[in-house]
Amino acid sequence: MNRTIELVKTIYEIKQLETFEEPQIALAGRSNVGKSSLVNRLAGRKQLAKISSKPGKTRSLNYYKVNPDGYFLVDLPGYGYAKCSKTERDKWAKLIERYITTAEQLKAVVVLLDSRIPPQKIDLELTSYLRSMGIPVIPVLTKADKPKQRDLAKLQGQWKDILQHDRLPLAFSSKTGRGEEKLWDILGEYAR
Ligand code: GTP
Ligand code: MG
Repeated sequence: MNRTIELVKTIYEIKQLETFEEPQIALAGRSNVGKSSLVNRLAGRKQLAKISSKPGKTRSLNYYKVNPDGYFLVDLPGYGYAKCSKTERDKWAKLIERYITTAEQLKAVVVLLDSRIPPQKIDLELTSYLRSMGIPVIPVLTKADKPKQRDLAKLQGQWKDILQHDRLPLAFSSKTGRGEEKLWDILGEYAR
C-alpha cells in the first residue's frame, strides 16, 4: 500500500494536549534509541522527524497522521537522558503520564529497545507501568543491523520472557529496512 505520513501537531506542554478521535499508537523509548529514525523509515523520508547522534533531540510530542489508514503515530520525547536536568526529566514524566492517561484512543505503545544492550531498568519500569494501565506494549528492538545475530536472538528471547509475550519482539533496522513490513502489519492490527 502507498502510505504517507505527515506531521500534524507538535506539543511541548501539558496545557497544549488535546483529544483526537483517531486511533493512536505512541512510540516510546530511551533517548537515542532510534524513534525518530523509525518514523522516517516508515515515512520513506530522511528528514521528516529530526534525528541526531546526540541524545535528547526530540523534546516534544509529535503527532504523525498515517494516510490513508487514518491513525496517528505519536512520537514521544526520549527518556533516561542523564545529562538533562531533574526539572526537565520531571516535566517529561508528567507530560507523558498525562498523555497516556488521557488519550482515550491510545491503542498501544511501541516500546523501542536498543538491540545492542541488555534490558535496562528504565525500560522495565515503562513496560510495567503500561501493563498496569492495561495498555498493550509492542516491543521493537532497534538498530538490528548492529549486533551479532546470535546476540540479537538471545536478547529477543530475554525480552519475550520478561514481557511474557507469545511472540518475540520485532527486530527492526531503520538503516536496512528490516522489520518494516511486519511493523506496518502490527500497527494496522492495533490501530483498528
Ligand atoms: P531522541 O530524539 O533523542 O529521543 O532520540 P531518537 O530515539 O529519536 O533517536 P534518533 O532517531 O535521533 O537516532 C539516534 C541515533 O541512532 C542516530 O545517530 C541514528 O542515525 C542512529 N540510528 C537510528 N536507527 C538506527 C538503525 O536502525 N541502525 C543504525 N545503525 N543506526 C541507527
Ligand atoms: Mg527523536
